[in-house]
Amino acid sequence: MAAQGSVTRGSDDAETGAAETDAAPRGAVEIHEGDNLGVIRGFADGSFTVIYLDPPFNTGRPQEKAVETARSRTPQNGADRGPVDGESPGPHADPWSSAGDVARPLVRRGFHGRDYERLRGDLRAYDDRFDDYWGFLEPRLEEAWRLLADDGTLYLHLDYREAHYAKVLLDALFGRDRFLNELIWAYDYGAKTRKRWPTKHDTILVYVKDPGRYWFDSEGVDREPYMAPGLVPPEKAERGKLPTDVWWHTIVPTSGREKTGYPTQKPEGVLRRIVQASSRPGDRVLDFFAGSGTTGAVASALGRDAVLVDDNPAAIEVMRVRMPHAVVVRAAAAS
Ligand SMILES: C[S@@+](CC[C@H](N)C(=O)[O-])C[C@H]1O[C@@H](n2cnc3c(N)ncnc32)[C@H](O)[C@@H]1O
Repeated sequence: MAAQGSVTRGSDDAETGAAETDAAPRGAVEIHEGDNLGVIRGFADGSFTVIYLDPPFNTGRPQEKAVETARSRTPQNGADRGPVDGESPGPHADPWSSAGDVARPLVRRGFHGRDYERLRGDLRAYDDRFDDYWGFLEPRLEEAWRLLADDGTLYLHLDYREAHYAKVLLDALFGRDRFLNELIWAYDYGAKTRKRWPTKHDTILVYVKDPGRYWFDSEGVDREPYMAPGLVPPEKAERGKLPTDVWWHTIVPTSGREKTGYPTQKPEGVLRRIVQASSRPGDRVLDFFAGSGTTGAVASALGRDAVLVDDNPAAIEVMRVRMPHAVVVRAAAAS
């Protein structure tokens, strides 16, 4: 897979990342530096059992442009316009109305025959920022789908602002029957507003490539303590309970082995469950918004092979230190 560019190996005296398990020998890790779309287009169809994605929300579009676009859709005759940042759409605004959406997109089919562009057009009328975000994500998700093995699973990690749009669009793109779960990762850290319910969770949408063939090992997953251990027999309490779709898990502790200093680092415990449930030792795991490399560190410690991609040199450096056994592939410079 290391097709282009230079290949280096991380230094051997650096600290190791995730704690290794007794069960499986460490898996290989390949780190690619470069824009993920170009890199993953070079990977073979169906070659990954788990794909975990934690994309950034802000894809670089200046905020003023989103506002400008919303205004430019305002018809001269004063018809309703979509909500503009910082403004309330008003009590009678219909967020699903496409009134004023001058550029009606052509209808396209999703992987399983849904009217996908029409749906996207409706969402565009509601929130320009999401349209921009989806424009960035859509081709990458299409590639993710191509890369998933028949028994594979896609985990898309989002925050509460994006999750609901993404669910609707992914249902259209992949097929609603491929939707497996909405995982809620709940944490309780940091300041709490007194103006609304403090938001302390992320959402992870889970889709399988084939509802009849996907791999899911609930017994292989780390268990968690019962909330009321006194209500179950001692041996059950000792063993712990199977996690549900709500995962209470601390953020990465500010001190300790796991902390890399990378700002958006996710906790190993969350990734460990994903990898344990949806892959076997020897399977291949892909994360093409890899950041500090949490997915790779965990997958490798669990005996899976990992492929990681990021376009930020700082992320590559953090991953090299975290996974000294990794092979680093730098994309060849454009001529
Ligand atoms: C939210 S962070 C991922 C954090 C990661 N889950 C962790 O535990 O450290 C998103 C990452 O995506 C990377 N990224 C954003 N756009 C990219 C692109 N087009 N190609 C490759 N990487 C990209 C950023 O550099 C950033 O490191």
